[in-house]
Amino acid sequence: MDYDNKQAESAKRPFARKSLKHVNSFKAMDVMRRASELESLGRKIVHLEVGEPDFSTVAPIVDAAKKALEKGLTQYTSPTGIVELKTRLSELYFRRHGLSVNAERILITPGASGGLLLLANLLVEAGDEILIMDPAYPCVRNFIRLMSATPRLIPCDAQQGFRPTVSQFEKARNSSTKGVWLASPNNPTGTVLDRETLTKLAVWARSTANHFLVDEIYHGLHYVSDLPSVLEVESDAFVVNSFSKYFGMTGWRLGWIVVPDQYVEQATRLAQNLYICASSISQYGALGAFTSEAEILLENRRHEFNQRRGYFCNALSEIGLPPAASVDGAFYVYADVSRYNFDSQTFCQLMLEKFGVAMTPGTDFGEYKSSQYVRMSFTTSQENLELGIERMQSALDSFR
Ligand SMILES: Cc1ncc(COP(=O)(O)O)c(C=O)c1O
Repeated sequence: MDYDNKQAESAKRPFARKSLKHVNSFKAMDVMRRASELESLGRKIVHLEVGEPDFSTVAPIVDAAKKALEKGLTQYTSPTGIVELKTRLSELYFRRHGLSVNAERILITPGASGGLLLLANLLVEAGDEILIMDPAYPCVRNFIRLMSATPRLIPCDAQQGFRPTVSQFEKARNSSTKGVWLASPNNPTGTVLDRETLTKLAVWARSTANHFLVDEIYHGLHYVSDLPSVLEVESDAFVVNSFSKYFGMTGWRLGWIVVPDQYVEQATRLAQNLYICASSISQYGALGAFTSEAEILLENRRHEFNQRRGYFCNALSEIGLPPAASVDGAFYVYADVSRYNFDSQTFCQLMLEKFGVAMTPGTDFGEYKSSQYVRMSFTTSQENLELGIERMQSALDSFR
């Protein structure tokens, strides 16, 4: 059943919330499904649509999880997570950012998704407006809508490096504005909020009594020397992070949030009610990420992503599909396809069906010029990236 039919079907069921009509499926998933169909027919597809590392979890994490299973550590944990893991994360903030973050302020969550869900319930009231970047990770606006609040999309143009400005916030603000939710590095652009920008935006949020939340899920996978955590510039900010990307644990469903002291008790109550705790085995496994053996492996992976980034961005520029902004973090390239006279949906469809390259239309990530852009992930081998470039070159030649 295709997506429109499914929506029509579910509209007939009387009990589902009407507001669910805003919650779209990811187009990246639709692309992935179609790509697997083509593969089952014997076609070789180059996967550039996937938003997760292509490496499986490193051995020290897997071994730590196996040991925990053997020891029978399979019960619920504390709703905020095991103390050992929170302590390791607190140490990580000190090592990476020179910050003293009390482990009590850290709550372990089922992925960044669980963290965003908890923070939406903690911070967003029905009728509120929350300022978010456009383009951005699609679930963010849905979490806000599910609170019966409004995500106010701030259009971020390639010319401004896909970073919002204080004057845009000022223009968008009204009496319902209650918070700002950003991501750095951002998905789908790979853009980083540099220290100056982050500071200006945080100062604005404080001066206008808005809460300030930054999703730092791609921290660790960054290719610039200075990537500040928002906590370096605003101690009362809310932080979302995860073991999914840098630590390569997408399927383990493990993340964390950092909240200011005065919110710990309410956040803990919400954690108990929303999910009781994050997976115990995943938490014990994640302790293995803080061994020197794992640290070397994870840094090697970051290095590999950086090499792929160098190759892929240059090759894309050479064939006429340059990254729209400098890819300073994450593993995504956002590129403008408008010169080829197709909207991004059609462009992606043609690339997949005719040329065997899967990529995600920008319309997954927002409204502003989103039908001009596509997102490509370098979460596949160098060999596949080269094949992808070769196929894209043929495609673009045929479009000219
Ligand atoms: C910006 C951003 N935030 C949150 C998530 C959700 O991640 P998790 O697997 O930790 O739930 C993603 C996933 O791609 C993401 O890109």
